[in-house]
Amino acid sequence: MAKSFYVTTPIYYATGDPHIGHAYTTVVADFLARYHRLDGYETFSLTGTDEHGEKILESAKSDGVTPQVYVDGLSDRFHQAWRALEISNDDFIRTTQERHKAVVVAVLQKVYDKGDIYFGEYGGLYCVGCERYLTDKELVGGKCPDHDRKPEERVEKNYFFKMESYRDWLRGYIQDHPDFIRPQGYRNEVLSLLSESLGDLSISRPRERVPWGIPLPWDQEHVTYVWFDALLNYISALDYPTGDRFDEFWPVAHHLIGKDILKPHAIFWPTMLRSAGVPLYQHLSVGGFLMGADGRKMSKSLGNVVDPLDLAAKYGPDAVRYYLLKVVPYGQDGKVGEADLVRRYNADLANDLGNLVARVRALLLRHLDGVVPQPNQQESDGDLIEAGAGLAAQVGGLIDELRFYAALEEVMQFVRSLNRYFNDEEPWVLARDPDKRERLGTVLYNVVEGLRIASILLEPAMPGKAGEIRASLGLAPADFAAAATWGLTPSGTRIADDAPILFPKVEPPRPESPGPDTATLEEKPTPNSPAGGRGSGSDSGKGRGKRVSKAGGDKPEADSESPINLDDFARVDLRVAEVVAAEAVPKTDKLLKLTLRVGVGGGVEEERTVVSGIAEQYRPDDLIGRLVVLVANLKPVKLRGILSQGMILAADDGEGNLSLVGVDREQPVGSQVR
Ligand code: MSP
Repeated sequence: MAKSFYVTTPIYYATGDPHIGHAYTTVVADFLARYHRLDGYETFSLTGTDEHGEKILESAKSDGVTPQVYVDGLSDRFHQAWRALEISNDDFIRTTQERHKAVVVAVLQKVYDKGDIYFGEYGGLYCVGCERYLTDKELVGGKCPDHDRKPEERVEKNYFFKMESYRDWLRGYIQDHPDFIRPQGYRNEVLSLLSESLGDLSISRPRERVPWGIPLPWDQEHVTYVWFDALLNYISALDYPTGDRFDEFWPVAHHLIGKDILKPHAIFWPTMLRSAGVPLYQHLSVGGFLMGADGRKMSKSLGNVVDPLDLAAKYGPDAVRYYLLKVVPYGQDGKVGEADLVRRYNADLANDLGNLVARVRALLLRHLDGVVPQPNQQESDGDLIEAGAGLAAQVGGLIDELRFYAALEEVMQFVRSLNRYFNDEEPWVLARDPDKRERLGTVLYNVVEGLRIASILLEPAMPGKAGEIRASLGLAPADFAAAATWGLTPSGTRIADDAPILFPKVEPPRPESPGPDTATLEEKPTPNSPAGGRGSGSDSGKGRGKRVSKAGGDKPEADSESPINLDDFARVDLRVAEVVAAEAVPKTDKLLKLTLRVGVGGGVEEERTVVSGIAEQYRPDDLIGRLVVLVANLKPVKLRGILSQGMILAADDGEGNLSLVGVDREQPVGSQVR
C-alpha cells in the first residue's frame, strides 16, 4: 500500500509581511514534506493565510482599504515569499475562499445540531493580538506577554462551544497517545492545562462589531470566531468531508506550529473535531521561538529584525533553509542573526562541502578526462564505505524523531570524514605517479560516491544546491532509497565540464551595518557574493548582472580620487598559488589555461582553473612550479568556453609588458597576501 504523509504549517495572519518566525515553521514543514516525497510517500503539504477577524479588520482600516483588498495583497506576499525560499507546498489555503467557508458552515451546523453550541453571555479579558480571551494566569504584569498589550475587558453575548465537556476525554486521549503532542515538554504543558477547568469556548462575534467573518448558518447576526474558522483550514483544504484527499491524508495529518499557538491546536481543535465526529489528527509538533541575535524579541525599534527574504536574496534560499534547520534543536528557543548565518555558511557549506566538490571535480577533469572510473577498494577504504552505507538509516531515524539539527549534523560529519579521507589519501600526489593511477581512480570514486549519498540526504534541506552537486558530478536525481547503498555511482559516469562554485565564501556582515539590505548590496557589490541565480530577489540581480559583464570585459579602473578603506581591500581574497599545469588556449594568442594549487580556508587544498592573458610573455612549461598571486574570491567567468575561477596578478606598464607578481621566498600555497 502506498505510504501517505500530510504536513501543515499554521495559516499565517495576513496582517504583515512574512518574517523569520513564519519562515522557520514553513521551512521545517517543507523539509519534512521533501524528505517524505524522496522516501516514496504520497505527500501533501499545506500552508496558507488566515484572513478573517478583528486583527485583519483593524489593519485594513488603518491602511484605508477594504479587508478583501488588504488580505489579497498580503496573501500574495506570503505566496511569493514561499517561492523565494523554495517551499514546495501542494496547496495554499485562504480562509476567504469559498471552498473553506463552505466547510466552516457545514461543521458549525453539525456541532450545533449535536447540541454542543449554546447562546450566552461572557465577560473576560480579550487580547486582539491572540484573538482569544486570556486567563489571569496567562498575563504578565497585566499584559499579554506575546503582544505586550493590555487585554480589553469585554462582556458580550456570544455562542459557546461546550469545550469543557470534552476535557476528561481529551486528557485521557493525550495520556494514551504519547506521540500526539511533541516534544514531550509541550505535551506536559497541555496535560497541566487540562487538569483544571477549561470553561467553554466562545465561538462567535456580533456581526455589527466584527463584520469581517463567516456568518453562523443559524444566526446571520453573528460571525464565526476566527480560531474556529481558521483551524478548519486543515480539513477544508482536503475537501472534507467527501474528497479522496481527505480519506488519504487526514488519518496521517501532522501539524507543525510555534509554541504560541499550542492551546488552540492542542485543546480547541481536538475537541472541535471530536464534537463534529471527525477523527483526530495524528501529530502536533511544536517549535520554539526565534529571537534576535541579542536574545530579545525581534522588533524594528531594537534593530534586531532578521528578514528571511533579504537573507535569501543575499545568500541564496538553500543557505537560509540550512541555517534555520540548524540554528537550534527543534522545540527549543534560539537566537538568529546574519553574522551567525555567515559563520555557519562559510564553515559547513563553503569549506566542508563546496570545497570538496570543487577539489574532486578538478582532479577528475585534469587526470581522468572527467570520467569516474571503476574503483578497486582496499581494506583501508572500509571505514568510509561503512559510514556512507549506514548514513541514510541514521539520518532517517533522526528526522522521524524531529531531530533535524542532529540529522543535518550527521551528514556534515560524514562530509568532514570525506575531507579527511581526501587529505589523507593525497590524490594530487597519486596523480603524479603513473603506477598509482588505479588508486587515484578509487579515491576519487569514493569521494564522488560519498558526495552522492550526502547530496541525497541534504536534498530536503537544500533542494537547489543538492541538485547542483549531483549535476556537477553527472549523477542521477535523488531518491532516498538510493542513499542507503554504497556504490551506486556507475563507473564511467562523466562529470560536467563546467560548474559554478557551489558556495563562494562570504565576508561576515560589518558590525555597524544595520542588517541585510539589498540596496547596500547593489551599491557596494561584493565580488564573492554568492547570491544570484535561483530564487534571489530580482532587485539585487540587476547589480550582479553589471558586475559579471565587467569581469568578462573591461575591468573597472582603480581611481585614486576615491580611495578605498581597509575594509574594502580586505574583501579581496589574495592567495599564494602554485602553477601545476599550463597550456595555451586554442585559437588565441594571449590566453593560457593554468591549473593552480590553492589553499583556501583552514589550509584545505583545492585546485582551480584560471585563464590568464600572459601567453605573449610566458611559455607554459616555464610556469610549472611557479608561485603566483591569485585573486581567489573573484566571481568565476567563462572565457573561450573555459570557466576561469579567479585571476592571477601581473604588473602592466600599459604597453603590453607584463610581469607576474610572485613571492620572493618559499611560501606555503594558500598563504594570504595582504
Ligand atoms: N493565524 C494564526 C494561526 C492559525 S493556524 C490555524 C497565527 N498566525 S501568525 O501569523 O501569528 O503565525 C503564527 C506562527 O508563526 C507561530 O505559531 C509560529 O509558527 C510562527 N512564528 C511567529 N513568530 C515566531 C518566532 N519569532 N519564532 C518562531 N516561530 C514564530 O497565529
